[in-house]
Amino acid sequence: MQQQQIGLVWARSRNGVIGADGGIPWHVPEDMAHFKATTLGATVVMGRRTWESIPPRFRPFAGRRNIVLTRDTAWTADGAEVVHDLGVALRVPSDTGTLWVVGGGAVYADAVPLADRVSETVVDADVDGDTRAPELGPDWRCADDSGWLLSTKGLRYRITDLRRA
Ligand SMILES: NC(=O)c1ccc[n+]([C@@H]2O[C@H](COP(=O)([O-])OP(=O)(O)OC[C@H]3O[C@@H](n4cnc5c(N)ncnc54)[C@H](OP(=O)(O)O)[C@@H]3O)[C@@H](O)[C@H]2O)c1
Repeated sequence: MQQQQIGLVWARSRNGVIGADGGIPWHVPEDMAHFKATTLGATVVMGRRTWESIPPRFRPFAGRRNIVLTRDTAWTADGAEVVHDLGVALRVPSDTGTLWVVGGGAVYADAVPLADRVSETVVDADVDGDTRAPELGPDWRCADDSGWLLSTKGLRYRITDLRRA
């Protein structure tokens, strides 16, 4: 059987910001639809702070196996499977053959060296924030690029699919 792939999916501003004050500082509904289409049916892994940033009515992410990383052995949440080790989390089976790491900054940074692919949305704005996407090294290649698209909310965005060479 083929080994499952590890993907990271994020949206960042032009200047690399992915989060501010525990949330995402823009609203691009088309990117949320892309996130859903990408991750539906899969196992998703996220840090405890990202879980807490999701409005309660949207968590757990429906139709996905939700794994939440925390070092707090007492922490629980309805709909979340709690794991205390990144390596263990990344080995949880995913029905689609790809496990998606869905944030946030701390977990992306640790997971990049272990990832096969990144789905990156770039929002065409410079934004203030406190959480950033990790830099991708020269071993990453663009496999697909949507080009610039215009959101119904007025912001331009583009989606690229990056693979480790
Ligand atoms: N734009 C995007 O695509 C996107 C996507 C997701 C999130 N975000 C944003 O990112 C921000 C949150 O990111 P963040 O960096 O602050 O936090 P985070 O990565 O979501 O969560 C960090 C927490 O996860 C747990 N953790 C991390 N690594 C672990 C490990 N190896 N083993 C066990 N537990 C581990 C720890 O929880 P404990 O402290 O409980 O031990 C840690 O404090 C928010 O603003 C959110 O909106 C943006």
